[in-house]
Amino acid sequence: MSTEPAPASAAPPEQTPEPPVATPATTATTTTSGGGEPPEHRALVLTGFGGYDKVKVQTRRGGGPRAGEVSVRVRACGLNFADLLARQGLYDRLPPPPVCPGMECAGTVCALGDGVNDRQVGDKVMVLARSGLWQEVVNVPAGQTFPMPEGMSFEEAAALLVNYITAYMILFDFGNLRPNQSVLIHMAAGGVGTAAIQLCKTVENVTIFGTASASKHDSLKESGVAHPIDYRTMDYAEEVRKISPKGVDIVLDPLGGSDTSKAFHLLKPMGKLITYGVANLLTGQKKNLMAMAKTWWNQFSINALQLLHQNKAVCGYHLGYMDEEYELIGGVVAKLISLYNQGKIKPKIDSVWPFDQVADAMRQMQEKKNVGKVILVPEAPKEESKKEEN
Ligand SMILES: NC(=O)c1ccc[n+]([C@@H]2O[C@H](COP(=O)([O-])OP(=O)(O)OC[C@H]3O[C@@H](n4cnc5c(N)ncnc54)[C@H](OP(=O)(O)O)[C@@H]3O)[C@@H](O)[C@H]2O)c1
Repeated sequence: MSTEPAPASAAPPEQTPEPPVATPATTATTTTSGGGEPPEHRALVLTGFGGYDKVKVQTRRGGGPRAGEVSVRVRACGLNFADLLARQGLYDRLPPPPVCPGMECAGTVCALGDGVNDRQVGDKVMVLARSGLWQEVVNVPAGQTFPMPEGMSFEEAAALLVNYITAYMILFDFGNLRPNQSVLIHMAAGGVGTAAIQLCKTVENVTIFGTASASKHDSLKESGVAHPIDYRTMDYAEEVRKISPKGVDIVLDPLGGSDTSKAFHLLKPMGKLITYGVANLLTGQKKNLMAMAKTWWNQFSINALQLLHQNKAVCGYHLGYMDEEYELIGGVVAKLISLYNQGKIKPKIDSVWPFDQVADAMRQMQEKKNVGKVILVPEAPKEESKKEEN
């Protein structure tokens, strides 16, 4: 998945990122402007670490796809929690600013590089990369694109990869979820949370405990969460034990810090804790050193002997460190597409925001308002309202 950055015009030059990063692109091989220069396109650029205003729309000019790459005209991009952390300098998989963020998008293939035989111009694809996808046009290795299933919207396609690959691998590959088990899902109404709930429902008689802000509990119940818990006003571990004194079989932990220990202690014998995030680091628009110190100080730690005595498993998951695992990830995507085609999973879109309103999109997630996925689109949606009917 190796790529190099192409020159940006209005944006200051980027430092050379590590692969795999999507490159600024145009449809140069098919639509160069009269003077031979590739046309400009708009991109979102993280200009420095800090608050919402650090992500700006800028204009770029790039080249066409290189050998093994395709150009994709982007129609929708996913906003992920990691993008909020990245804006504050708390996500180590993003190259330093100025840089174009964006790990997932969906769009249409508009040009092919040499040697690409398994994609055609006009194909609708979903794209996964470490960064660089929040642009109108991107060049990406063909292997990082996945054909969209029939009938899927670009918004849904931009909401599928990061959330559902993560949820699938933590629940099934690490969690080994089986019928009649119980699962505690934190941030249950968010992107990964929603995906995890839908995937739990594909297994018979799974009891779901889900933490979320109280306003989202009706939606959680509708999705199949038996026990929504408002972690903001009550101790969720106590609430789980009131209902299930022995605890649960699986805890999905996207929070980190003291919540990882709580998760471990909530496990039944043979239970599994899968830690996959540090949301506790994020408390406001800018980096909070106190929250960082607290999260680090409360970091869960256990030695092999203690683990042996407990009959529990602890797993760590980070999709961003699996960018060379083409086969593994491709296999998961194939299973997800099959589940989508069977009607068993369907990305839930919270809201859709044009690039110009990226600050509002980030605020929507950071202020804990989203139910499902927050989507960015290069152009303003036609409807007045950006909130989709669910
Ligand atoms: N390891 C990986 O490969 C991987 C991949 C994808 C995502 N993740 C992790 O999975 C988690 C969910 O990611 P996502 O992209 O799907 O985001 P998300 O769940 O949609 O995040 C937004 C929601 O999180 C909840 N939340 C809890 N603590 C928060 C905080 N400190 N600040 C703001 N919101 C907070 C809020 O809802 P409520 O208050 O209603 O709960 C908010 O609406 C994150 O920790 C993310 O880093 C990890």
